[in-house]
Amino acid sequence: MLNDESTLPLKASGPRGYPLIGVIPHLRKDPLNFFLSTAIEYGDVAKLDLGPREFYLVTQPESIKYILQDNNRNYRKGYDQAKPLLGEGLVTSEGNFWLQQRRLIQPLFLQSQIGRYIPFITAATDEMLAEWEIHALNNKPVDVAHEMMRLTQKIILRTMFSTDTGAETEQIAHAFDMSLEHLNQILFSPSRILDRLPTPANIRHRHALEYLNKFVFDLISQRRLSKKESNDLLSRLIQARDSETGLGMSDQQVRDEVMTIFLAGHETTANALAWTWYLLANSPEQYDSLVSEIDQVLAGRTPTENDLAALIFSRMVFDETLRLYPPAWMFARHAIEDDEVGGYFIPANSMLMISPYVTHRLPDIWHDPEYFYPQRFNSENIGQRHKFAYFPFGGGPRVCIGNMFAITEGLIILSMVTQYFRLSLVPQQNIKPTPIATLQPKPGVFMNLIGRN
Ligand code: HEM
Repeated sequence: MLNDESTLPLKASGPRGYPLIGVIPHLRKDPLNFFLSTAIEYGDVAKLDLGPREFYLVTQPESIKYILQDNNRNYRKGYDQAKPLLGEGLVTSEGNFWLQQRRLIQPLFLQSQIGRYIPFITAATDEMLAEWEIHALNNKPVDVAHEMMRLTQKIILRTMFSTDTGAETEQIAHAFDMSLEHLNQILFSPSRILDRLPTPANIRHRHALEYLNKFVFDLISQRRLSKKESNDLLSRLIQARDSETGLGMSDQQVRDEVMTIFLAGHETTANALAWTWYLLANSPEQYDSLVSEIDQVLAGRTPTENDLAALIFSRMVFDETLRLYPPAWMFARHAIEDDEVGGYFIPANSMLMISPYVTHRLPDIWHDPEYFYPQRFNSENIGQRHKFAYFPFGGGPRVCIGNMFAITEGLIILSMVTQYFRLSLVPQQNIKPTPIATLQPKPGVFMNLIGRN
């Protein structure tokens, strides 16, 4: 029987590039606008000429749901470049090993468990606010992008290790910073060989990693021997047992998950918060609404787990920030077998690029997409959209395990800072979203601290 041509999958098209180098120059120059304008011009599935391999940018919610959820078994993450650093942790592992690890670790991040970590968040935020008081008295602006990084790093360090970092805290924080910098670098490096050359930077990164490995392995063995109760993540990772087999993790597995959670779990939230302050300062009416909700719900108290559900508008502000500036602005999947996505043919081995930044700004989904409007996230408006029109935390089985942690941390910091200060932008800054591994505000976000009491 003859094949009916009309049922054959379509071949995706995309922007024309230069001979040999394809669209790489466009991508280097302005990746965010290049991806967004490609999606607007070529639709759901656009082919990108980025070298010998086939690349597709996929942007409509139904197709994203198909890749991340419905047919996720046909897609690998392929984050192998990050394995020297993250090993077989949750972000990088695949298949059955990933599933087994996810089952073990998921219970530690359930919403019902996040309350345990709140004291680490409030204490670190209080310490930052005490420093800010001095800056405010001296009329000294702060770079909130830098401040939020320091704060979320302190929170994840304490959530993970309690106070066991002791006198080495600064050194450990610095070593983690260097590892994160290296990860950012290798994710965008054109060649693996460059990362292995004995350059001064690569040698520094290797030493930082050796130092961290020693610190983490030593702490794991101390904890295994100790009888002392501890409420931090490290202890809970060590104690986690598979409900069917009763087996726990080896030291190497615990180390890989510690590195993974540390690196995945602070820069993202820090960027989200920095963008939140930036957007609020540019939208005084929305800022007023946020202040009045926080004053009304908390009446000057430090927030607790029980307050979070009442911070409805604050949550809408955070959600809208994650729409406009999703920290994980792009991620990728590799097709294992031939597939059809949104009616288009996807050959095996091709790489699919999925970008919350792009889908969150498509004008056929979002009215006036560039406009900061938290009310898009009231329950009525959410109900009218496709579930995958908004996916700052990914979706399907590999959805971010830390999403409730991030939202809780975001709301607590947002509300505690708002109780003490109103932030306003230092004039004449040219702040641009800069897509590295996460979407960072560069060169920083300098703000004046105006005390509210
Ligand atoms: C606003 C903050 C955050 C954002 C926007 C974010 C975003 C994401 C996204 C999009 C993914 C999926 C990537 C993919 O499918 O390729 C992911 C995965 C992951 N995230 Fe987050 N994340 C945030 C905070 C956190 C925090 C606080 C933690 C831990 C404390 C964390 C730990 C992880 C881990 C371990 C994974 C891998 C999960 C798996 O594959 O099983 N993230 N995150």
